[in-house]
Amino acid sequence: MRIIFRFGGIALIVAAIVILAVLPFATSFVEQWSRRDVELRSRLVFNSVRDQVSTLLARNDAGQIASLFERIASDERVLAIGYCDGQRLLYPSSNMPPSFSCEQAARSETESFSIITTPENRNVLVSSFPLNVGGRSGHLVVLHDLSYADQRGWQARNYLFLALAGVAFGAAALAAMIAAIIMRRWLASIRQAIESARAGTANPHTDENLIPIGQEVREVLQELEASRRTIDAAHTDWSPETLRAALLNELSGSEVIVVSNREPYIHNRTENGISLQIPASGLVAALEPVTRACGGTWVAHGSGSADRDVVDAHDRVPVPPSNPSYTLRRVWLTDEEQDGYYYGAANEGLWPLCHIAFVRPVFREADWRMYRAVNEKFAEAVVAEAKREDPIILVQDYHFALLPRMIRNRLPRATIVTFWHIPWPNEETFGICPWREEIIDGLLGSSILGFHTPAHCNYFFDAVDAYMESRIDRERDSVTYGGEETLIRPYPISIEWPPTALEGQKPVPECRRAVRERLGLPQDVHIGVGIERFDYTKGILDRMLAIDALLTEHPEWKGRFVFIQVAAPTRSKLTNYRLLQEEAENLARDINTRHGSEDYEPIKLLIRHHEPDQVFELFRAADLCIVSSLHDGMNLVAKEFVAARDDEEGVLILSAFAGASRELSEALIVNPYDAHAMGEAIHRALLMPQGEQLERMRLMRDQVKERNVYRWAGQMLLAASRLRKRQRIRRLIAEGRRQATTNA
Ligand code: G6P
Repeated sequence: MRIIFRFGGIALIVAAIVILAVLPFATSFVEQWSRRDVELRSRLVFNSVRDQVSTLLARNDAGQIASLFERIASDERVLAIGYCDGQRLLYPSSNMPPSFSCEQAARSETESFSIITTPENRNVLVSSFPLNVGGRSGHLVVLHDLSYADQRGWQARNYLFLALAGVAFGAAALAAMIAAIIMRRWLASIRQAIESARAGTANPHTDENLIPIGQEVREVLQELEASRRTIDAAHTDWSPETLRAALLNELSGSEVIVVSNREPYIHNRTENGISLQIPASGLVAALEPVTRACGGTWVAHGSGSADRDVVDAHDRVPVPPSNPSYTLRRVWLTDEEQDGYYYGAANEGLWPLCHIAFVRPVFREADWRMYRAVNEKFAEAVVAEAKREDPIILVQDYHFALLPRMIRNRLPRATIVTFWHIPWPNEETFGICPWREEIIDGLLGSSILGFHTPAHCNYFFDAVDAYMESRIDRERDSVTYGGEETLIRPYPISIEWPPTALEGQKPVPECRRAVRERLGLPQDVHIGVGIERFDYTKGILDRMLAIDALLTEHPEWKGRFVFIQVAAPTRSKLTNYRLLQEEAENLARDINTRHGSEDYEPIKLLIRHHEPDQVFELFRAADLCIVSSLHDGMNLVAKEFVAARDDEEGVLILSAFAGASRELSEALIVNPYDAHAMGEAIHRALLMPQGEQLERMRLMRDQVKERNVYRWAGQMLLAASRLRKRQRIRRLIAEGRRQATTNA
């Protein structure tokens, strides 16, 4: 459209220039032409009255002459007429301007014409014709008002202007029309190229003539189209296969590198040799199946006692050990580094800062220096693993806030996708962190930065707004900082579907029987479970208080309900974690004493790590599962419980402060700070009819199945792929421009 207007505009400007150039000539031409016309009329007048005037003058018949002159002067074009006898003006008609004298008339042997201007500023043509009477020489003078000629000049100018303007507009409209036709054909040819790209029938030879864009741009168009097809196809059914297919179509030949602190497989030395442990970590639970599907390299801290024994000379080990599909590259940390970076800055500083659990964060400068140094160490490891200059790097979590920037500095063409697995705090809370600017600067080294929920994205925008000089684009959901744009997006994390841990599980009644037997529980007892790391954010004490409330308010459950709390020890070097464990043990003991008996313990506290298949067996044995996080980014235990229940029974009691509550709204949503209400929720869950359980569980299972972890990863990777394609188009255009400038 703009081009069409431009064409029309150019035509108009050209026309205006022509009008301005032509008008003055046209006006003077018309004026001269009008004057000749007047002169001709004067001559006609003279010729027609010459004889009559001569006779009357010879007869000195003043009366006849005056009446003749008056008649002639009554012609609308003739102003006045008179006879100049030498210098004397005789018989002037009544309209003769009083200022006129015979001196003003040119007098010669032949006719002559001159223009005079009257005191009233009128141009008058004076025509003077020699007329000798009786030997006396004289001149007949005829005066014509030239304002008529001026008027004609103006009129001609106006008509000409209007005519030229009309022609100009016509020409502009014609030019615009031609431009529109050209544009339409051009667009049609682009569309045709896109269509043929879609159909896979693009012909680089014939199409080249049709479409004035380069072969490379067409290829990118084809890729974008293919990408849409992939997304459409995989939209409702994300699985390892669709993720692999999306990767193949979208990012074929790309290198994927995952970076996290926690490694997916830990090798430990035991009395029976080396054992393999899968850590209790939401991050690992989500990312491991994705990396298995994508292949590539996972860079992580080698924390197991036998980790060094199994790696090659480059600190790499293929995993999963049973069926390797990617490489685990281990990074070694000294105790000092772990203390400062992992325990100090990450888990005593950032962890409590980001979770509202009322545990005060500790910010030590020495810890932060170590955090920075360890981030550098990981950046070096990533660069060492990268085989290309533009890998896709998936940076994980609060241990690596500075890593994106450090990688960006070393590999400017990398696509860095960072995911923040924990909540992002509101602006006031984040503001207390002495490292806030450095953290944001580090994260904005990413191409894409993901959080679990839109609320966390918004808090991040607030923090950027408050502390950084940058441009926030709320429409694109991006931040441009130092000339580089970072997209900020919510990607709710999830679990694999179907979960590997479900393979080989016995039917639910058998799991129930097995668990009851193992824990020495009566076969008719109702079972509740809670399974997580021993972390103060999980609300473990709060759910024990809820059980206390339940047994106080509804003592009929005594002896009929047992709550199994599995808690994997975590970060035990830190005082807060040790204290929590002590407190939980004391509280469980106290509740068991008050509500239990010799052969009945309402709370079974199992403080040890459970492998995924043991966790799933417990989930299947349970009537209800409690996830009572005080604050949680997502919480994958909730989703795992749902995934474990292929019998579509069991009730999930879920904290409103876990991100998962946004998706699993059919759970019984509770406030973990309200022990009484949570106790009532347990009571309700224990009494929930089977039909209601089925309905709720079915809806939640559909949700988790559809929004599984392959979708989470797929969406991020597809976003990365789109970004790469756009960057490629931009690079091509920039190169084209550079070439055009050079050629010019
Ligand atoms: C949370 C964090 C993960 C971490 C996990 C286990 O889910 O977001 O990054 O791996 O807890 O914690 P740990 O300190 O044992 O790795």
